[in-house]
Amino acid sequence: MTIKNLIVGSFTLLLLASCNESTSSTNSLNHSADGKVEQVVADFNKHTSQDYHSFSNPEEVKVTHLTLDLNVDFSKRELTGSVALDFKRMTAHAKTLILDTRDLIISKVTANGEDLSFSLAESDSFLGAPLSITLPEQGSTLTVYYQTVPQASGVQWLTPAQTAGKKHPFLFTQAQAIHARSFIPLQDSPNVRVTYDATIRTPKELLAVMSASNDPDTPRDGVYEFSMPQAIPSYLIALAVGDLHFKAMGERTGVYSEIGILDAAAAEFEDTESMLIATEKSFGPYSWDRYDLLILPPSFPFGGMENPRLSFITPTVIAGDKSLVSLIAHELAHSWSGNTVTNATWRDLWLNEGFTTYLTYRIMEMVYGEDRYAMEAVLGRQDLQADIDSLKPNDQILAIDLKGRDPDEVFSNIPYEKGALFLRELEYKVGRENFDKFLLGYFETFAFKSITTNDFIDYLDKTLVQDHSDKISKERIEEWIFKPGVPEGAPVPESNAFTSVDSARNNWLAGKIKAKDIDSKNWVVHQWLYFLNNLPAQLTVAQLKELDEAFGLTDIKNNEIAHSWLLICVNNWYEPAFPRLNDYLVSIGRNKLVKPLYKALSSTPEGLAIAREAFTKAKDGYHPLTVKVNEKFVK
Ligand code: BES
Ligand code: ZN
Repeated sequence: MTIKNLIVGSFTLLLLASCNESTSSTNSLNHSADGKVEQVVADFNKHTSQDYHSFSNPEEVKVTHLTLDLNVDFSKRELTGSVALDFKRMTAHAKTLILDTRDLIISKVTANGEDLSFSLAESDSFLGAPLSITLPEQGSTLTVYYQTVPQASGVQWLTPAQTAGKKHPFLFTQAQAIHARSFIPLQDSPNVRVTYDATIRTPKELLAVMSASNDPDTPRDGVYEFSMPQAIPSYLIALAVGDLHFKAMGERTGVYSEIGILDAAAAEFEDTESMLIATEKSFGPYSWDRYDLLILPPSFPFGGMENPRLSFITPTVIAGDKSLVSLIAHELAHSWSGNTVTNATWRDLWLNEGFTTYLTYRIMEMVYGEDRYAMEAVLGRQDLQADIDSLKPNDQILAIDLKGRDPDEVFSNIPYEKGALFLRELEYKVGRENFDKFLLGYFETFAFKSITTNDFIDYLDKTLVQDHSDKISKERIEEWIFKPGVPEGAPVPESNAFTSVDSARNNWLAGKIKAKDIDSKNWVVHQWLYFLNNLPAQLTVAQLKELDEAFGLTDIKNNEIAHSWLLICVNNWYEPAFPRLNDYLVSIGRNKLVKPLYKALSSTPEGLAIAREAFTKAKDGYHPLTVKVNEKFVK
């Protein structure tokens, strides 16, 4: 196999303490031993459209536009400045605007040149603190003057040593799900959409980019102006600052990154323009003008984030062979499902991620062909099964009840792969042509709106169910959306490319062939993943040694294959891989890749010692979210 060398190995991550948590939550759900009471709660929640993750009051006063003016101070690790909020009174008696904040220092609030009274309540453990502002008698704009704290949960500050170039500091924000409030006081609910303008002041040698209009030729003078004229939810507001450079990939697509990885990134993602064109052809026009990528340092806690016009991307997918570019298809697809039609609350996340995962498969099929799609669909189905086998029934529900829960703690494959499989079933039932028409209509009908699961069900009822009542029923739809597991009779993804992998694995496990005799020279990355992910849980050290010697797995550069291999090594205590495991944990901050390793390590005392050592070394370089979700394993 040829997996080319990559990039991220030598990065070191940055210094950041874990986010300050404060008092206890007032929102926790009353769990009852009485199943009936829980059923009542479940039935109530089935119809709710309430956002349990925002203190704001958009039904009384709605913020419609933000004007940000922020200074980026790398030495203090603070964003300092102001946000002017344009608002609309939704009721005649509205007197107070309530904003979400987390760990913000508010110095004053003004309107029409005069101070307004405001109060910041006590902080909830994961929701932050509501900021109540008495509205001015006149006018519909007020300005909040504030600064962030160095540990802001939605901001990561990197030292020069933690960047590729080693010369300049770097900053990026990650607002989804409820972290925008840690760098801007606002109505932090996906049900509220705002347009925004921003002035960002940085050290002169650095460039700022945002989820807005970006001009790659802007003079590097340390003052950068942005405008996002389309109304977006707060979780899509994003900023990055660093020694960034730009390279065009196509007419509407390009990539921003540090100079050292710019060419590799542009080559890896050169098909982005074709993906954009293919998606438009099937699912309607792209609404956001340009589509650029920003490649972040390896501490970025996600694979990607669909910030409008500028997706934020982990460098861990630059594999040298385009094997992991479905991530780009995914973030691009969010331009339709997520950014144009948005989940109204985090319970409805599957509307964003399930539709996007479905579109991702369709894009991969259009751009790379059916075989590639089929392999990815099988791997996705297996990831889904792993979660179904390990999550509590309630957490396997698409319209998940998140009352009293921190969305960061509930992340799983359910909204992604179960959501996509549901849509795949609808497609199979009504036929691709009809389903594509339905999707086109859905994106048009709800463009620039935030919708709940029930809005979707009502729309589905009026369209597909009505037109194809012989093929789809309300009961079946409800089973998919409100019941755990995967309904019986759901589509089963299959790939011919995996048949030979299965027989090679079986023959080797049965002792019929040696690992070195497996004919793997033409295997692609997906086949390796399928080979490794379907090995039995228990293997001997001798077996792992044989695989390692035959295929050099410990030294593999592809980060996904390395992840699968290292997990096997932890679970079967294959010590020769542990130095590589340590490097991996210390150099990558992407949660999907590191969290399962920390979790597996923490299950034995010897493993825990390794996990603690790596975590202690890596912690200063991890994003606050990576610290938060992994530190419980090393306690
Ligand atoms: N929007 C998500 C990332 C996200 C989800 C952040 C929920 C916070 C809360 C992004 O589009 C995403 O799904 N990323 C995946 C990509 C993968 C499924 C291809 C990731 O980061 O792994
Ligand atoms: Zn996504």
